[in-house]
Amino acid sequence: MSAVLKEDPASAAMLEVNDISAFYGESQALFGVSLKVAPGEVLALLGPNGAGKTTTLRAILGLTPARAGQICFDGQDVTRAPTHRIAGMGIGWVPDDRRVFPTLTVARNLAIARKRTRFRAWSEKECFEIFSALEYLMQRECENLSGGEMQMVAISRVLMGAPGLVLFDEPSQGLAPKVVQDVMATVLRLKREGVAVLLVEQNVDSALAVADRVCVMNLGRIVHEGPAAALRYNAALRRQLLGA
Ligand SMILES: Nc1ncnc2c1ncn2[C@@H]1O[C@H](COP(=O)(O)OP(=O)(O)OP(=O)(O)O)[C@@H](O)[C@H]1O
Ligand SMILES: [Mg+2]
Repeated sequence: MSAVLKEDPASAAMLEVNDISAFYGESQALFGVSLKVAPGEVLALLGPNGAGKTTTLRAILGLTPARAGQICFDGQDVTRAPTHRIAGMGIGWVPDDRRVFPTLTVARNLAIARKRTRFRAWSEKECFEIFSALEYLMQRECENLSGGEMQMVAISRVLMGAPGLVLFDEPSQGLAPKVVQDVMATVLRLKREGVAVLLVEQNVDSALAVADRVCVMNLGRIVHEGPAAALRYNAALRRQLLGA
């Protein structure tokens, strides 16, 4: 298997978020959020509705810029970088609304997602290996796809864009069990290739099954950080932190 990194950044974090605050107008959504994801690590970001999970991803991408604190990706400070530059450096985003170009075919959606970063771009063939249905959908326009099919396209677009870090926002929401399985298999495959994964999920069991570490958010703050195994095997702690 080819290594994803063209150079070795030792064991430095791929993503480091330090003490960030973010606002929507005057309303503060994040209060001193810090987290780290290493290459080949899956960090699950869990928590109830409105906790600030999506806002954390938006801050990393520069869509809701951090007003205080610092965000480093791949050894570079991206706190004030524009979103297109951040994406161009190799951060892939699977948003919660499965954004694809509706009037374009699947093939076209994939083709225009290709870009060069210092990380490895996945081939169409590798995407077909993960999502076997995709190969037969290539000439379809995306607006005619089911939610699950659209998610396959959204994730494949990210893979073909050569990511060093993938941000997933509730990727299993509303999907059939088979597609959820394929999505979680993708997360594990990214991990094996040394890609860093930040996985926001409401589906706690699926997230704990693939995550190395977990951060739990509530009311804009990280309220717990630790190994996934601690939550996987400790139902009382899981109930205390997640009510699940
Ligand atoms: N566009 C917006 N304008 C104003 N406030 C917002 C906006 N988006 C989110 N918020 C607020 O910011 C806070 C964090 O929201 P966020 O969407 O990050 O939560 P979340 O953890 O992703 O929740 P969910 O699980 O429901 O997706 C909430 O109080 C929310 O109401
Ligand atoms: Mg959200």
